[in-house]
Amino acid sequence: MLIVYSLLGLSILLNGFFWRQWRKKDQSFAIRNNQTPSRPEQVGDFYDKYNDKFLKTYGEVIQAFRTTDVTKLLDYQIEAIGLEKGQRVLDAGCGVCGPAIYFAQQAEVEVEAVTVSEEQVQQAQQRIQAAGLAEKVRVQKGDYHQLKNYFPADHFDAVYFLESFGHSYDHALAIASTWEVLKPGGVLYLKDLFRKIAVLPEHEAKIDHEIGRINTAYRYNIADLYQVLHALRKQGFIISQMKTIDLKLEDFENLTISNDFQELTGIAVIENWEEYVFPVDFFEIKCFKPWYDIGLGNSRYFLQNLYHMKIWGREQGEL
Ligand SMILES: C[S@@+](CC[C@H](N)C(=O)[O-])C[C@H]1O[C@@H](n2cnc3c(N)ncnc32)[C@H](O)[C@@H]1O
Repeated sequence: MLIVYSLLGLSILLNGFFWRQWRKKDQSFAIRNNQTPSRPEQVGDFYDKYNDKFLKTYGEVIQAFRTTDVTKLLDYQIEAIGLEKGQRVLDAGCGVCGPAIYFAQQAEVEVEAVTVSEEQVQQAQQRIQAAGLAEKVRVQKGDYHQLKNYFPADHFDAVYFLESFGHSYDHALAIASTWEVLKPGGVLYLKDLFRKIAVLPEHEAKIDHEIGRINTAYRYNIADLYQVLHALRKQGFIISQMKTIDLKLEDFENLTISNDFQELTGIAVIENWEEYVFPVDFFEIKCFKPWYDIGLGNSRYFLQNLYHMKIWGREQGEL
């Protein structure tokens, strides 16, 4: 009997240990490294404070991975997201609505846009008015972790995050929030920076160090690509693409804008270029919320659908 109890105790102890290790692996870089990710209010304060400097260096499109002629980046994104005339889309983390205005003009979509910065809302509203797009682009202060507070369920054809998702203090929560407001069949598109995988063991610590600096300086919470893919699949999204952003090399801006911004503000200036390891990779991820309707052409995801229907309490007859 004693042996049985001892074995039971040992197994509980081991289970606890492995569970804690697994949880640790499942947490974002910031949390694993005892960094507290910034809250949306802190991110908002950051953009309020640096709004002028962002405008001065980045202009109306606040994305570091970009083309020299920024319209080429935005044209690429119209294609990549799959924006089509008449769609209703959400810009989650919209900046001053540079992309939203361009998409409304060029792709003829209707855009709802949210940012956590009051300054950006003011600036965006002026730009929307000046472009005569008050009917097509609406901006408000809002937190993309709580989208159902602002929009009805099953509402958007697409939700996109352009270098904004990485500000999230809880990536899985941001994904769940997006799921709620997307129509079945709707697209979620993420473009962001993700922690680089070290090739040499001695680069691990350097990458962590640089990521810690970026997170602190920019109120970011750089995501681990695999954790994000995990969270998307767990939510029930069907991943249709995960890839490098294929901007043409001759159009690529080479990240000099980030350096200009760092020099202008003194934020996250590189301490020692010899020791420096570039700590991130940029990727785009496209996925969609499945339909529960074979007639809508989704039959090849039958098994995946069936599983999630069970989880979400949907009737098989809906398929
Ligand atoms: C690097 S800027 C990108 C802006 C815009 N996507 C663009 O391409 O110009 C990041 C944006 O994400 C927004 N953001 C960060 N956290 C947010 C949150 N929790 N809810 C809504 N917006 C958020 C910021 O306010 C800011 O507008």
